[in-house]
Amino acid sequence: MRIVQSCVALLLLSGIVLWAEEPSAGEKYFKEYCWGCHHQTAEAFGPSFRTIANKRDAGQIMAMIADAEHTYRSLGYQRNSMPAFDDLNETQLKALTEYILSFKDKK
Ligand code: HEC
Repeated sequence: MRIVQSCVALLLLSGIVLWAEEPSAGEKYFKEYCWGCHHQTAEAFGPSFRTIANKRDAGQIMAMIADAEHTYRSLGYQRNSMPAFDDLNETQLKALTEYILSFKDKK
């Protein structure tokens, strides 16, 4: 009986842990650094992540975040409104890029 009870308790517990799953790292950085100008699916000051995901690849997205000043022209913009994110490391850049690409429409 004890064992059955512990099993049930364990199952419940893992269910709760899965349910309350932490937001991804990319989502966290997005809220911290980008949310003022970009929203996930709605246009804001900058294009939505869905729009970006549907027309760019990972390399272009990462280049824009890491070095907008030298990238905006190649993406077709006349001027740059993105702040420099010099303090983001490689892991954070990858997490953000993955997060943006997760909004790509499924074909
Ligand atoms: C101060 C406002 C602002 C902030 C903060 C900002 N962006 Fe932007 N972003 C823009 C604007 C506006 C554009 C459109 C190009 C331009 O005018 O510079 C843009 C363009 C981009 C593009 C290229 C869009 C395309 O056409 O492919 C990417 C990728 C991007 N932003 C990602 C991010 C990420 C990731 C963050 C957070 C780390 C961020 N931006 C923070 C304003 C901002």
